[in-house]
Amino acid sequence: MNKQIKVADKSYWVGYVDDRKVPFHRLILEKGTTYNSYLLMTEKPTVIDTVDISFGRQFVERLSQYIKPEEIKFIIINHVEPDHSGGLPALASKAKDAVIVTTELGAKELKEMYKLHNRKFLIIKDGDTLDIGGKTLKFFETPYLHTEETMIAYCIEDKILYPCDIFSSHVATYDLFNDLAKEDMIPDFEIYYKLIMHPHRPYVQDMIKKVKELDIEVIAPSHGYILRNNAQRFVDSYDEMSKASDEIKKALIVFSSMTGNTKRIANHIANALGEKGIVTDIIDANDKVNIDEVKEAIINADAIFFGSSTRYADMVGKLEDILKELKNMDLESKLAVAFGSYGWSGEAVEVINDYLNNTNMKLIDTSYMIKKTGMEDMNFPIRIKFNPGDEEIEKITRSAQVIGDLLIS
Ligand code: FEO
Repeated sequence: MNKQIKVADKSYWVGYVDDRKVPFHRLILEKGTTYNSYLLMTEKPTVIDTVDISFGRQFVERLSQYIKPEEIKFIIINHVEPDHSGGLPALASKAKDAVIVTTELGAKELKEMYKLHNRKFLIIKDGDTLDIGGKTLKFFETPYLHTEETMIAYCIEDKILYPCDIFSSHVATYDLFNDLAKEDMIPDFEIYYKLIMHPHRPYVQDMIKKVKELDIEVIAPSHGYILRNNAQRFVDSYDEMSKASDEIKKALIVFSSMTGNTKRIANHIANALGEKGIVTDIIDANDKVNIDEVKEAIINADAIFFGSSTRYADMVGKLEDILKELKNMDLESKLAVAFGSYGWSGEAVEVINDYLNNTNMKLIDTSYMIKKTGMEDMNFPIRIKFNPGDEEIEKITRSAQVIGDLLIS
């Protein structure tokens, strides 16, 4: 039997150390990584997260050194990405009666990913607890850290937080505990935060508020070191790194509206940005607009929203005159977003995007958003049919908030 790796009384590490150069989110993890899974050998034996989909067999073998998989009662899936849920099919095929514990969205995704429609799921809501016979797990939903379905688990008796990806680092180590690290692990911890968590900075702050209420002695994440030496320091570090900067960010909204619907979108965008503390100006690109003044406002903004109604498959007003100027301006690192109301096919936002694609601004489209944040439910440009109703206003607001978050992160 391999050496047992004890995390707490009756709690063991049963993960996998992946010391290859691991492809991950368009990066190569030069130091490899670990997939940390935990077995709590309570009266109702419980597994918290699994391992990468490539190592399901090795995972079940390791687990079997402690317990017959058939005896496992609960499998907690904090996050469905396959580097943590990938061992679930192999485990679930042995632990046939085990209940899978996850969020509502997590259950939906797991059923589709692994054809688990006939398995029993326990759906978790924020603050729920689960008695596993001798230990109690408390759960918190942590959406967008870093995907929408994510939750974390806290063992009340052991004072251990199991936050899956959060507080992780990508290092393939058999030492596993931060007090045993042979090198300074802080740079890897911070790089991981910046790459994976920081794009979701406001959600990190939401998570910190929940975690600060807990008495945490150990943080047992699902990649890299288990943080049992000064765990609080790592919570404080996330808190610090995710705080909004003091620098005031500016946005500009330039629009042409035919009936007033695109103007309404512009106003909703401005309100949402204002709530994020972003100083926002609006310019109506009508016949009287001064192009030089608009160019100056563009230069002074960090994000520019260009909006137009669609009329005869094209933009309206003076917006095109402004867009024509952009390719000769240095607008590097500014964010650019197209929006507009339309009645039939909404060509104007696409024409705006054609112009923006010829600048050195970062054009926000759906592809950019998925790659930057993993949010596959955010669609850009912002296209609204006719007059924005409640549902559309919510969509506009959320889109603007996400751009605001990108600006202040
Ligand atoms: Fe470690 Fe989001 O997977």
